[in-house]
Amino acid sequence: MTIPREQVMDKVVALTKRRGFIYPSSEIYGGLSGFYDYGPYGVALKRAIRDLWWRHMVELRDDVVGLESTLMMPEAVWEASGHLQNFVDPLRQCLGECKKRWRADKVLGEKCPECGGPLDDARMFNLMFKTHVGPLEDRASEVYLRPETAQGMFVDFKNVISSTRVRVPFGIAQQGKAFRNEITPGNFVFRVREFELMEMEYFVRPRQDDEAFDYWRKERMRWYTDVLGINRERLRMYDHPKESLSHYSKQTTDIEYEFPFGWGELEGIADRTDFDLAVHQEKSKQDLTFLDPETNERYLPWVIEPAVSVERIFITLLLDAYDEDVVNNEPRVLLRLHPNVAPVQVAVVPLSKKQELIDVAQEVVKSLRGQFRVEYDQTGGNIGRRYRRQDEIGTPFCITVDFDTLTDKAVTIRQRDSTQQERVAIEGLSARIGFLVSGARR
Ligand code: GAP
Repeated sequence: MTIPREQVMDKVVALTKRRGFIYPSSEIYGGLSGFYDYGPYGVALKRAIRDLWWRHMVELRDDVVGLESTLMMPEAVWEASGHLQNFVDPLRQCLGECKKRWRADKVLGEKCPECGGPLDDARMFNLMFKTHVGPLEDRASEVYLRPETAQGMFVDFKNVISSTRVRVPFGIAQQGKAFRNEITPGNFVFRVREFELMEMEYFVRPRQDDEAFDYWRKERMRWYTDVLGINRERLRMYDHPKESLSHYSKQTTDIEYEFPFGWGELEGIADRTDFDLAVHQEKSKQDLTFLDPETNERYLPWVIEPAVSVERIFITLLLDAYDEDVVNNEPRVLLRLHPNVAPVQVAVVPLSKKQELIDVAQEVVKSLRGQFRVEYDQTGGNIGRRYRRQDEIGTPFCITVDFDTLTDKAVTIRQRDSTQQERVAIEGLSARIGFLVSGARR
């Protein structure tokens, strides 16, 4: 069904609260702007996103290794990387009634967009959160919560090359929390202050960046369409003009999604050259060069970096999957999530509360658990209501155990999108679900 795009965000926000995907952080105390908690289905969806990224970026490849570095790093790291100086947004504050703060590059004119009051002059605001390590709050104890995971890969580069058998070209991947004191968090979890980054630094020989850059742009786009099932028509590539590049980048392409509020960045793929390794080598006075066993040359590798947050993918998936239609003359809300990412892949529902049915249903659950994300749904309400609930959380397959099951040892698989049903022998059930989950296309 075509739902007016401007309504989709509100509908998705309401659904995520109603169905236990996302709650505002510390809500009973009034919340904390730009921070969110994830409920049971939200956690399952986040994990699915994270696992699929790791699987495709690390486990299915032989040229990428993993890393987990710390969330807090000393000032020296951020000074070398340029974040202390450059990781800033221009800020303007309303001097009128509302006192709201705005990103100067996002307001047109001299008046506050909220109350029409005058704005002060723009000043630079660093987005990094600062704190102290140890009991003394002095300059020497200052550390920063990382605004990107990437610096961990550069700072540990020497450790990785000397302790593993990696050879250029190779990548180091990391998933983990990042923090940015965004001036204007918003559009739900699109822009938040605490989020989970998934980044991979792909090291290549000097000046051999163009080929790898092109490869990763295509490969990342393929992941969104083929693995996550995101609608190709709502995705596009945007090449940044030189003047909008980050301080470390030679070229950057964003994979953009058409959000209800307009086209916006989903993932960035940046060509960081040898900028980071070079500055860390200079400031730390450590040799960060790689001795290439094929050419016997020593060099600082260049770097291509695909980077995206779990939250950005999360909101994209929900907005892309949200739909409403009419089934048996009743309106329904559904999330047409790809089975790969659905928080629940299979729901097992006994038709009634009769013990014989419950026993079989629980056996079915046992046989599927471990292979799939399974939910057992015996709770009240007729079967139709239970299907609707599963449709709303995006469960692609419901398995119904009914009275015939007791004699024919078969169950019904009901597909979310078409509501079509098929009868399948319990014996062949896990193979059939496996096929449907992996082979399913929208
Ligand atoms: N290491 C490169 C880097 O951090 P970035 O474009 O600043 O580049 C990478 O961020 C990705 O992180 C973005 O493409 C987006 O997916 C996500 N991201 C950035 N800021 C975010 C925020 N405040 N909330 C949620 N996700 C964010």
